Amino acid sequence: MLTLDDLDSRLSIPTRQLGEPGPSPARLLRMLQTAVRVPDHGKRVPFRFLRIAGEARTALAEAAVRRLREREPDCGTAVEDKLRTRFTLPPVTVAVIARLGEDEKIPESERFTSAAYTGLMLLLAAQSEGFGAQLLTGWLAYDRPFLETTLGLSPDERLIGTIAIGTPQIEIRDRPRPDAAALLTDWRP
Ligand SMILES: Cc1cc2nc3c(=O)[nH]c(=O)nc-3n(C[C@H](O)[C@H](O)[C@H](O)COP(=O)(O)O)c2cc1C
Repeated sequence: MLTLDDLDSRLSIPTRQLGEPGPSPARLLRMLQTAVRVPDHGKRVPFRFLRIAGEARTALAEAAVRRLREREPDCGTAVEDKLRTRFTLPPVTVAVIARLGEDEKIPESERFTSAAYTGLMLLLAAQSEGFGAQLLTGWLAYDRPFLETTLGLSPDERLIGTIAIGTPQIEIRDRPRPDAAALLTDWRP
């Protein structure tokens, strides 16, 4: 198992600081095989993944910018360029998708939780393989036209976020972390 020190080293690398090389398709698949080892009530497998790599990165970036212009015609080129680089700079981005919808037994929140866990597992897997990664959402994670028309999600699916994966271009200093002792109390009857 990983040591606590290994786990404590987890941190996100800002997407714009992720460059080449990224994981090969085989390595990414191997990382995803780890990511799917999440607690999953009822074994529903309520998640799937979309890979955005190679030329698809530019195509997705341009589609996102077109949608941004529809939403905010006066957003300006700086905002557009920032959105573009979210997809064009990192070698690979993985969209983590929660597959939800009707289920007689397992509440939707539990299935969403399992899907979200795969995101954390993918972040850990990427770092274990020597890459940097970051999970992002932003407006596009909640924009149904973008999700359904551009990314191809069904109405029952939600985007947990997109995880950019690549090689860190700079060293990132860790941020202060919450103090667990301040968050822990003993329940007493
Ligand atoms: C669900 C979710 C969505 C996030 N979306 C964004 C985002 O859109 N933009 C952003 O700058 N950080 C976002 N973050 C934060 C980053 O993923 C990351 O946590 C942050 O860069 C701090 O790094 P750390 O993981 O080392 O704490 C999001 C985090 C979560 C859990």
